[in-house]
Amino acid sequence: MLNWGIIGTGRIAGTFIRALQAGASGRPLIVLGRDPERTRRFAAEHNVPESTANLRVLLLDPRIDAVYIATPHVSHAELSIAALKMGKPVLCEKPMALDPQSLDAVLDESRRSGRLFLEGYIYRWHPQTAKLIELLQAGVIGEIHLIESAFGFAAKYDPADRLFDPALGGGAIWDVGGYPLSMAMLVAGTALGRNPGNPDRFSAGGVTAPGNIDLTSCAIAVWGGRIVAQLSCSIGATVGAFLRIHGSQGRIIVPNPWVCNRTDPEDGVIRIERESGCGEIRVPADRTSFCYEADGFARLLESGAREAVSAPFSVAESRVLGRLLKQWTEAVSGQG
Ligand SMILES: NC(=O)c1ccc[n+]([C@@H]2O[C@H](COP(=O)([O-])OP(=O)(O)OC[C@H]3O[C@@H](n4cnc5c(N)ncnc54)[C@H](OP(=O)(O)O)[C@@H]3O)[C@@H](O)[C@H]2O)c1
Repeated sequence: MLNWGIIGTGRIAGTFIRALQAGASGRPLIVLGRDPERTRRFAAEHNVPESTANLRVLLLDPRIDAVYIATPHVSHAELSIAALKMGKPVLCEKPMALDPQSLDAVLDESRRSGRLFLEGYIYRWHPQTAKLIELLQAGVIGEIHLIESAFGFAAKYDPADRLFDPALGGGAIWDVGGYPLSMAMLVAGTALGRNPGNPDRFSAGGVTAPGNIDLTSCAIAVWGGRIVAQLSCSIGATVGAFLRIHGSQGRIIVPNPWVCNRTDPEDGVIRIERESGCGEIRVPADRTSFCYEADGFARLLESGAREAVSAPFSVAESRVLGRLLKQWTEAVSGQG
């Protein structure tokens, strides 16, 4: 069982802690926050045995087998590098870095230290995504032409929230744009036999909020004139979550592609619509996506993996995805 060090005391750190506690592959041992008293309270409320406000205390602790990073985006690369340098494997929340230099620095440090690094896209670990890949490989809707995917919600504008704060990497693209884009890369990559499934052309446009952060935007990605994807994300409009894949013989619809129920396991649902008829596949899930991810990370570590080289999520995908997200952000707000 892995002993985890948890960095961050926010919404998603709490979710990950509960996922660990519900599973059998690891346990949260120490949580790190900036304020000692607040962090102690957070630890007590979440049944984490120890807390600290000193990063070195956590990273130098020989009992810690792996570190989970759930702070605002801007700090991900620096914290990942610090943990890897101390010999700790890292599971880092998305997005792992906000510029290609930092992204490469993290992955280079992972390689140099021989310590596993993984960017956390939970939907990749849910059995629904594995089933989707299986269906695509079986060619159930013929040749794939068009992918439509989105993730967006209407958050209340609050300049103090990391979502709207330019200094903390605010904006929809960094927060949720990586979901539809990485999904389109997975779908097109599977259909075309490319890993990573990087598109050949990419363009974007959108709407901005105060501070010139991107609020709502769309991107178009094209794979060799064979597949086109229309991708949307928002933190200002009720865009919702969806994935529709259109092929020469029908379409696949995934109503809840990101399966990010934080409290209870949620079965996957995949609809297939063809001229010959429509059907729905239920994909049973016995854990939350965070639980699948934590267990998957533990298995990778146990197998001696130094980096994730294929699905559920590979470092090669992280490299392409981070660059495209930067390009998307620059196209919408003129800044990265
Ligand atoms: N995988 C998913 O489904 C999912 C879902 C939501 C979010 N996320 C990712 O998880 C990360 C954290 O998101 P969240 O929603 O948990 O954020 P949050 O609630 O704002 O929490 C972030 C935590 O980071 C710590 N922190 C360190 N430096 C900070 C700074 N300069 N400003 C503010 N907080 C700072 C804070 O703890 P202390 O004050 O104790 O230091 C804070 O509680 C984001 O990168 C996000 O993309 C992933």
